[in-house]
Amino acid sequence: MNGPASHAGLDTLLADIDVARSEGLAAIAASSTTDELAQAESGLFGRKSVLGQIKQGFGSLAVELRATAGRALNEAQQELRVAHAVAADELAAAARREQMQREWLDLTETPPGPGRGHLHLVTQTTERLEDVFVGMGFTVSEGPQAETDWYNFEALNLPAAHPARSMWDTLYLDMGERTELGDGEGGEATNVVLRTHTSPVQIRVMESQPPPIYTICPGRVFRRDTADASHMPVFHQIEGLVVDRGISFTDLAGTLEEFTSAYFGKAISSRLRPSYFPFTEPSAEFDINCVICEGAGCQTCQRTGWIELGGCGMVHPNVLTNCGIDFEEWTGFAFGFGIDRLALMRHGIDDLRDMYTNDIRFLNQF
Ligand code: PHE
Repeated sequence: MNGPASHAGLDTLLADIDVARSEGLAAIAASSTTDELAQAESGLFGRKSVLGQIKQGFGSLAVELRATAGRALNEAQQELRVAHAVAADELAAAARREQMQREWLDLTETPPGPGRGHLHLVTQTTERLEDVFVGMGFTVSEGPQAETDWYNFEALNLPAAHPARSMWDTLYLDMGERTELGDGEGGEATNVVLRTHTSPVQIRVMESQPPPIYTICPGRVFRRDTADASHMPVFHQIEGLVVDRGISFTDLAGTLEEFTSAYFGKAISSRLRPSYFPFTEPSAEFDINCVICEGAGCQTCQRTGWIELGGCGMVHPNVLTNCGIDFEEWTGFAFGFGIDRLALMRHGIDDLRDMYTNDIRFLNQF
């Protein structure tokens, strides 16, 4: 570069402009980052730039030549501006691409080895239970977690003032005046609860399909309980429902025994103890041999050799009637038990809360 034009000759001036233009373009092309391009800018534009200084030399030019020189200079400047703008865009885009590549996080990545993700213990347990019952010919049904009073209580033979309702510490939902869950009679229900058990799914199944019915309903249930080693306000149950001709209590006992040995192995068997549930008659609690000591007696089973798993019984005639099923023609049994508890026992976990704090060191053991 020869520096600013200080002489009057137009040709020299035009030649200088041309050199400044080529060198400017070269400087732009040589910038490989936005920072470098920014550094080149002062040499390209403004009064201090090469072209700027050439322009200041126009004063010594004859007036009639100034227009020609000015046009050449403007063209050169315009060319540099366009080249600069294009380069600035490209470099900014490249910088963004580079940054995105550098900061990219693969959220779907599963780390290799022992840190690899897997299903939660409760999900694993649910799936195993489903497998066992599906193997015995049952289907799997589901129902909503927010239920109306009708499905959670009334259709299950628990009218509003029934004292047995206090067996379930219920969480009521404030839903305003209307809900679309229905009250079982085509109307709109106003009383909505977080279901306290999976038994309302019995009603939904019987309403929606005719017998024979062989189904299980696993799912999340809710109670107004304070979390401690054996209670959580949110836990999981699995319900079983059979409705067919000639179903008797022995079918219930046999099904539970079959399930127990299929799930826990031949060493563990089941027994029934008389109990009470409003929706079954007769009702029973069902126990299994303690899975820790296999019936010998230990701390977990308080030396009895037995552990209570859940409730069961013959479906109450009122419940069948509530679902439009003729109890003279059809009979059935139902059972329900806690999934979390089962997982707890199977794996010798002593605090239910551990299942829900999601400490990876705990979860990775299963
Ligand atoms: N729903 C009962 C409970 O949560 C268990 C149960 C289910 C009892 C089916 C009898 C029949 O305690």
